[in-house]
Amino acid sequence: MNSSNEIKTVVFPVAGIGSRFLPVTKMVPKELLPILNRPLIEYAINEAKEAGIEKFIFVISPEKKSIINYFKKDEKLESILRKKNPALLEQVANNLILDDSLIEVIQEEPLGLGHAIWCARDFIDGPFAVILPDDLIISKVSCIKQMIDAYEEHKSNVIAVQEVDTIDISKYGVINYSKNSKNFYFIEDMVEKPSIEEAPSNLAIIGRYILMPNIMNALSTKKVGYGGEIQLTDAIKSTINNDGVVGYKFEGNRYDCGNIVGALEAQLSVAINNSKYRDQVIKIINKSLK
Ligand code: UTP
Repeated sequence: MNSSNEIKTVVFPVAGIGSRFLPVTKMVPKELLPILNRPLIEYAINEAKEAGIEKFIFVISPEKKSIINYFKKDEKLESILRKKNPALLEQVANNLILDDSLIEVIQEEPLGLGHAIWCARDFIDGPFAVILPDDLIISKVSCIKQMIDAYEEHKSNVIAVQEVDTIDISKYGVINYSKNSKNFYFIEDMVEKPSIEEAPSNLAIIGRYILMPNIMNALSTKKVGYGGEIQLTDAIKSTINNDGVVGYKFEGNRYDCGNIVGALEAQLSVAINNSKYRDQVIKIINKSLK
């Protein structure tokens, strides 16, 4: 897709251990868990492609190379399909293959999301997008495209925010803002996983960011934060007075596929909104409820 914006690079930090999805994540990275017949990471790639992104940086752990293989040509499978079922060839067609536009970076140890982003520093030469694939966002306009448009308007770091129920607030980074206009919130502070009493608002940080390259300087201090990890939130917070940080309330439905119930909700919602599966799924749900 042609796009005139300056942001052409996305980083996918996918080197976490996926502990909430153990034991399956012992063998299958959570980014490869399917929603219908496509892995989560493919939804994230499509979201980025719709925003005109051309360079895809994957920060993986040495154990998660299968994520990269998903976007490589599989000559053996293609030759089998050609003989046995050529109609299925389009399922592994060229538009899935990233080749030269894919960059693989290794994070040897899961030291935190901030550290994962820092691992991509050699390939960053301007503002860039970050997508956490386990936050699946289904929207009319690609969420990261909405964020890029927000960046074009404000020329500052942009982070996606969403109102969440008070009971869930301590699972998230939460923003404190001075003022807002339309869907933009001008951020003054950010708190990682606050208690209900400490939460400065009900606006939680969701896994989409547009970051200015300066963030790499902030991350290079490798300051350890909440949970003993190098937190991206801390680094972004340290740029508030220089680059500025805007929270953007995006349009769309977000599913937290990093946990089992969120992933189930995503499966059901995507299936029910697909005419091919809708009736069958509703039938199954009704039967199960009896
Ligand atoms: P999460 O905390 O959601 O992912 O990190 P996790 O650690 O894999 O899962 P749980 O919490 O143990 O269940 C958010 C994103 O940051 C990446 C993860 O892969 C995920 O996409 N991440 C996290 C890294 O790439 N490296 C890290 O050191 C930590």
